[in-house]
Amino acid sequence: MHDPDLDLDYRPKLGAKRDYGIGIVGAGAIVNAAHLPAYRKAGFTVAGITDLSREKASETARRFEVPTVYESVDALLADPAVEIVDIAVPPWNQLDLVRKATAARKPLLCQKPLSDTYAGAQEIVRLAQAAGVKLAVNQQMRWDQTIRSARTLVTRGWLGTPTAATIDVNILTEWSVWPWLLTVDGLDLMYHSIHYFDSLRSLFGQPDRVWSSCSAYPGQAPKGETRTITVFEYPAGLRALVAVNHNNWTDDRYATLRIDGTDGLAKGTFGLLYNYPYGRPDTFEFTSKKAYPHLSFSHRFEEMWLPDAFIGPIGDLMRAIEEGREPETSGADNLKTLQLVHAAYRSIAEKRAVAPDEIV
Ligand SMILES: NC(=O)c1ccc[n+]([C@@H]2O[C@H](COP(=O)([O-])OP(=O)(O)OC[C@H]3O[C@@H](n4cnc5c(N)ncnc54)[C@H](O)[C@@H]3O)[C@@H](O)[C@H]2O)c1
Repeated sequence: MHDPDLDLDYRPKLGAKRDYGIGIVGAGAIVNAAHLPAYRKAGFTVAGITDLSREKASETARRFEVPTVYESVDALLADPAVEIVDIAVPPWNQLDLVRKATAARKPLLCQKPLSDTYAGAQEIVRLAQAAGVKLAVNQQMRWDQTIRSARTLVTRGWLGTPTAATIDVNILTEWSVWPWLLTVDGLDLMYHSIHYFDSLRSLFGQPDRVWSSCSAYPGQAPKGETRTITVFEYPAGLRALVAVNHNNWTDDRYATLRIDGTDGLAKGTFGLLYNYPYGRPDTFEFTSKKAYPHLSFSHRFEEMWLPDAFIGPIGDLMRAIEEGREPETSGADNLKTLQLVHAAYRSIAEKRAVAPDEIV
């Protein structure tokens, strides 16, 4: 690093109280691959776990030394040791669980997408607001090292006025890891690009308009779209492109971020996607003319999107409880991300640019 005052400030910020008892609903792939490894790394307290499959809950509890396996969601919610409910089930099962958790007046972390319908997501947000409980959404890519570092640079003005942002992801996705995704109508935008949309929102706010186009790949297993191109138009001339292809069988795979500004350029890679779920650490580099001599910097992180970024949303929820504020990825905030997803689908269906506010 050439400038001692310049740090990337990318790590999640934790509050003073970190020992909230976490009760996990769902003992599936993502809980085992990311939630529990992240909580172990952060030193968080997991009070217990439940799943429709008692066997999966028990096996997960054994792997991660979780003290209690609950017979049911009701039993989990009734335990005073559970202070935060962490839901990780397919989105169409989330609303019923939120109904129960909000009735029990417990703060909760929901998985993304909050719901597969916009009305369902609105109902979840309404339930939490009516019960006066804090709800955060696990849009953890905002805490990915490359995204967070870029945000630090953008916020501190090192790039000047951002003019273009590009997320270009050309990978091979093994869909059998998520068999329940094989039959959904909307695939990439709703379940994958939603991370990029939310990350771009965390960097630049809500765009004015969304253009999107999508396609399948010859012979693909899933029903939904596996190739998408989406453009966000922002008021001051900034344009963002999110291009995703899940069918790249060659060795030339990549997952990159690039932000061009009037005074600087930031470039990064999302290491996880080069070989999911093993991956490799993100890389990040930038150059800025705002420093003399011309500043340039290159970094390879110790952390990875998965599991490290998963410390972000729940850590922020804990701080939000402590500080009496809304979490950064609150339900209300997440509705804006979902507006972008649904605007993209509408853009595809109607072959036009769609303003996010059209989604109500
Ligand atoms: N990076 C990410 O943020 C990321 C990555 C993968 C998956 N996800 C999300 O996580 C969620 C779960 O995905 P997964 O791949 O782990 O699925 P999964 O099918 O592997 O696991 C889901 C588990 O939830 C259990 N379950 C379902 N309904 C339940 C209920 N009502 N009560 C108790 N248990 C219930 C199932 O039995 C299953 O074990 C999805 O919403 C998905 O979109 C997020």
